[in-house]
Parts: sequence; C-alpha cells; structure tokens
Amino acid sequence: MDRIIIEGGRRLSGTVTISGSKNAALPILASSILTDGVCTYTNVPDLRDIKSIVELLRHLGAKVDCQGSTVRVDASSVSVHEAPYEIVRKMRASILVLCPLVARLGRARVSLPGGCAIGERPIDFHLKGLQALGATISMEHGYVNASARKLKGGDIYFDVPSVTGTENLLMAAALADGVTRIGNAACEPEVVALADVLNLMGAKITGAGTPEIVVHGVKSLEPVSVSIIPDRIEAGTFMVAAALTGGDITIENVEPGHLKGQIDKLAQTGAIIEATGNTVRVKGPGIIKSVDVKTLPYPGFPTDMQAQFMVLMSVASGLSMITETIFENRFIHVSELKRMGADITISGNSAMVAGVPSLSGAPVMASDLRASASLVLAGLVAEGTTEVNRVYHLDRGYEKMEEKFRQLGASICRVSQPKS
Ligand code: EPZ
Repeated sequence: MDRIIIEGGRRLSGTVTISGSKNAALPILASSILTDGVCTYTNVPDLRDIKSIVELLRHLGAKVDCQGSTVRVDASSVSVHEAPYEIVRKMRASILVLCPLVARLGRARVSLPGGCAIGERPIDFHLKGLQALGATISMEHGYVNASARKLKGGDIYFDVPSVTGTENLLMAAALADGVTRIGNAACEPEVVALADVLNLMGAKITGAGTPEIVVHGVKSLEPVSVSIIPDRIEAGTFMVAAALTGGDITIENVEPGHLKGQIDKLAQTGAIIEATGNTVRVKGPGIIKSVDVKTLPYPGFPTDMQAQFMVLMSVASGLSMITETIFENRFIHVSELKRMGADITISGNSAMVAGVPSLSGAPVMASDLRASASLVLAGLVAEGTTEVNRVYHLDRGYEKMEEKFRQLGASICRVSQPKS
C-alpha cells in the first residue's frame, strides 16, 4: 500500500489545474447505458472510482475505450443486467447503474452497496422512487432485484435531498412513459451536469438545479459527446491549502458559480479570494480567523469539504463549531488530527475546534476519501514529517494530488510500499 510523506511548513504558491469532477463523471458514465450508440466523454479524471465504473460497464457488456482523459463508451451491446458484489463493494456509487439498466433492459440485479466509513448510506429513496415509476422491487441475498416491462411517469418526493438518488431517478424517468415530478430533489451541480447531458441525448428535463424537477419521458436517447465539469471539491481542497499555508494559489479550470458557499466561508477566515472567469486566486491570511460552519445540501457548505475545513480551523485563532448534518459518522479524521496536536471535542454531530499555534507531523491513517485529503492538508502545515498511510482512499477521488502539491512548492512524495 502506498504512503505519502510530507515535510510541513512550506508556503504554497503558483498555479494548479483542477481535474474533471468524480461525482459528475460517475452518473454521466452510467447514463451511457440509456443509449445504444457510442458516447464520448472528455475531461474525465483518472481515479480509482472511474476505473471501477469502467470495469462495471464492461461487465454489463459495454465496450469502453480509455485514452487519457477521454472515455468512449459503446453501450450498444449492453445485455447483462447484474452488477456483482465484487465490483459494487469497491464503489457504492455503482448503484447508479440500477435505474439505467431497468430503463434499458427492463430489469436489474444490483448488489446492495452497503455502508462505508462515513455512514450507513441507505438506498431506500432510490428504491421508493423506482417503485413510484412502476418497477417491482425485491431484495435477496444482498442484492436488489428491480424489474419493469416499461417504466411509467410518476410523482417522487425525497424525505431529504439525495444526490445519487435524484440522479438515478432522472435516468429512469428520462425513458419512462409519461411525466415524472421529483420533489425535494438535490440541487448539486453534478445533478445539473447529468440533466444537461440527458437533455443533449434527447431527454426533456426541466428544473434541474432546483428542488422541483419535471421529466417528460421520451422513446429513446441518442449518444453524445460531452466534457465533464470541473471538480468543485478538489478546487475547494486547494483553496483551503492556500489559506492554510499563508500561500498564494491560482486555481484554474473551475466553475466559480459552483464554489459560492465555499468562497463565502473561506473569505470569513480572512483569506483573499478573487474569482475571474474559470479561475480562482486564493491568498492566505496572516492570521486565520475561526468561523463556525454547518454542512448542508447544495448550495450550502458541502459535507465533502468538512474535513478539509476542520484542518484550517485547527490552526485558526479561536474557537470554531463544525456541524455535520449530512452523514452520521463523518468525524473519523478527528482522532488522527488530534494525534497531530489538534484540539477538537466532539459532541454528537458537532465538533468544537480550538485553534492551536501549530500541528506536529506524525504517522497517520487515512480512513475515507475526504478524511485522507484532510490528513495531507494537515501534513502540509504541520511541523516536521507526516506520513499518510492507506492513500488508496485518496486515489479514489484526487488525481495526482501529491504531484499538484509538489508543483506548488510542497515537500511531498509518494512511497510505494512493496506488497508484504
Ligand atoms: C453523494 O453521495 C456524493 N457521492 C457524496 O460524495 C456526497 O458526500 C453526498 O452526495 C452528499 O453531497 C457521489 O455523488 C458519487 P446522498 P450520495 O444520497 O448520493 C441519506 C465523496 O466524498 N439517504 O445525497 O450517496 C444519506 O444517508 C462522496 O465524493 C437516505 O437516507 O449521498 C445521507 O444522510 C462521499 N436514503 C443523505 O441522505 C437514500 O436512499 C444525503 O445522501 C439515499 C440517501
């Protein structure tokens, strides 16, 4: 297993280019199942999770050709309706093939994704929505079976906004007979990106990006050639790195409109942020002000940035209350940060962070994707050496992270441990 070794204390400066969004690419790649032609996707990030969905599409019978950041999917020969546990367990977002398979083949058998480090991660909203569109659902031996000769439009309402739940049901509704109304839908940019791609394919979706989405089903969808939107969480991670190290980083290939919640919160800490076109420049403050933050569905502050922001608050000038409202167990990074000298007290879904003058480098263990990013950030600002273990978590969602940080002046390298 690879490790990342960081010598902290360097001020980061320079320019970094953000990769395509993992959480936009996954549903868009899954949507290729809805057409029997060749779809071409560019600006696809080179990530473990992308490799997993490519493996799954190939298992379903699609021909997938990956050339750098371009992925071509020929879904004309998709005929397998089962997504096996061996693949789904590696990436729970594999559930995103459930609805496209039912829409395309009339049936699907998908391994239940199960929970992960940050929470139970149920899929009841996905299944309830699919039933509302006329599918028959059963569960057995850790798999969900769904079938429908032809999906019919219907009304769906989410108890809480679900990103992949909204995306899955958009793909089901696109080819259903009749009109589907989705209430309390997720508004994330990745949902909008998927809806835009589906509309380019011939779907009739209105309201994406708002809580009320209406889909008029169509008979078929055409293949497309599209570029994946930039990753707003990778962008936010580099924005925090600039503030954390008192640096000056120009972040290219971003959509500033997707970053408003993050930019607002970061500016409150004293960072200077200039957004122009597809670039955001972040200069770190001399003294980092402590601010409270609560994670919320988009356009609120993203839960996927909570761990990274906690690192910034751990070396800020006062007290900060961080409240996690989306997932029930997303403070796993706290124990590792405390080993590096952070002063954090958890109470329920809130963490009180008392800023300390500095963190100290230590060997730490990554537990999930965004927690591992927070440990790298902590290493960048800690005194001495930090060794982040189990960086395969990082590779799920960050493309060449250590190379990008090294180009900004960090003392960081990846050590590949021989298999023991
Ligand atoms: C997506 O996960 C993202 N993953 C997550 O990013 C992100 O943290 C999350 O949205 C919230 O923004 C992808 O897009 C691939 P949800 P998703 O359904 O769709 C509950 C990362 O780091 N819920 O929006 O699985 C759920 O437990 C990952 O890139 C149900 O109860 O999240 C949670 O409390 C981590 N039943 C809330 O809704 C359901 O059927 C929101 O979850 C579905 C969800």
